[in-house]
Amino acid sequence: MAKTTITAALPYANGPVHIGHLAGVYLPADTYARYMRLKGEETLFVCGSDEHGVPITLRAKKEGITPQDVVDRYHALIQESFEKLDINFDIYSRTSSETHKQTSQDFFLNLLKKGAFKEITSEQFFDPEAQQFLADRYITGDCPKCQNPGAYGDQCEKCGSTLSPNELVNPKSALSGATPILKDTKNWYLPLDEIQENFLNNYINAQKDWRSTVLGQCKSWLNDGLKERAMTRDLNWGIPVPVENAEGKVLYVWFEAPIGYISATKDARPNDWESWWTGDTNLVHFIGKDNIVFHCIIFPAMLHLRGDNYIVPKQVPANEFLNLEGQKISTSRNWAVWLNEYLEDLPNRQDELRFVLHSIAPETKDSEFTWKDYQTRINSELVGILETLQIGFWY
Ligand code: MF3
Ligand code: ZN
Repeated sequence: MAKTTITAALPYANGPVHIGHLAGVYLPADTYARYMRLKGEETLFVCGSDEHGVPITLRAKKEGITPQDVVDRYHALIQESFEKLDINFDIYSRTSSETHKQTSQDFFLNLLKKGAFKEITSEQFFDPEAQQFLADRYITGDCPKCQNPGAYGDQCEKCGSTLSPNELVNPKSALSGATPILKDTKNWYLPLDEIQENFLNNYINAQKDWRSTVLGQCKSWLNDGLKERAMTRDLNWGIPVPVENAEGKVLYVWFEAPIGYISATKDARPNDWESWWTGDTNLVHFIGKDNIVFHCIIFPAMLHLRGDNYIVPKQVPANEFLNLEGQKISTSRNWAVWLNEYLEDLPNRQDELRFVLHSIAPETKDSEFTWKDYQTRINSELVGILETLQIGFWY
């Protein structure tokens, strides 16, 4: 009987988990894992904290602490609240672990030896005062579309436009306030255009039973034509690029974070971890819709290049988003029901939350959480119907 490896997207350790994450990812994954175990299937369910990436460094800077302080705080908080909600992971790991550093560096070197990367030198923004390259988020300026003075190098949050840093008027470094200059830097790229021809087109077209929302996004990426994409970045928070003369460069967070599923497996099953990633094993990724390209295109490309009988995702049940009282849930605008606060304010009400979030799961379209609806569903469905059924059974 085939084994099943179930993953739930690694939450960023830069804030607590909220009900949108639960409804879209962690509860469906947990329920599926419980179902598989009840059926007697050999199942491994892994997750952990995603502890690298630019937002974590920005948060650390804002609070005047180190990025490690930020992730230590939120890793502990997230892990504890998942435990209290009774999410049954086989392991809740983290990407700052030694196992993960080893595993992702080995993966990179394996692809490097195979000649999978292209080394490309390009001009990137550099802060002449802080003496470092600037990620897009570290550059602010006036939005070329709406003149908002606080637009970021990747996006204007006021008008919602996607930007690149060279479009900003009056660009400034968020580190020092200096005007960034352009400077040459070398990075390692995956030629996704070639991998599309050799593998991804066939792989995606063969997925007849994936959700139409998931296939729709994948096919739109493929129709536009994939481009080469940098798998290393000039940053100092992350996993060092394991080659000489790569000081100040780290693995791209979307390269190493999915490898975190493999690292977590190693820590959970040191003796037979490989059997969960090779051969006749089904790989199932539970994610939100903003993660589709990374799990359906980039990670499969990496696993395919890795070879050695490694598996690629079999099913990717990506969910849509949950709104809260008519508005988009937003960590930066602090508009959310945070799991840790729910558990404190409504102690011993885990089943009520699990029940309501399952019944409004945003599977095919965005859905809506309101406290009024929470109350109604508990009183009329959970208490009203289930309890009546049970009384009927006893008498
Ligand atoms: N941290 C990401 C997010 O919350 C998910 C990472 S999933 C992984 O959107 F595969 F990269 F680990
Ligand atoms: Zn704008």
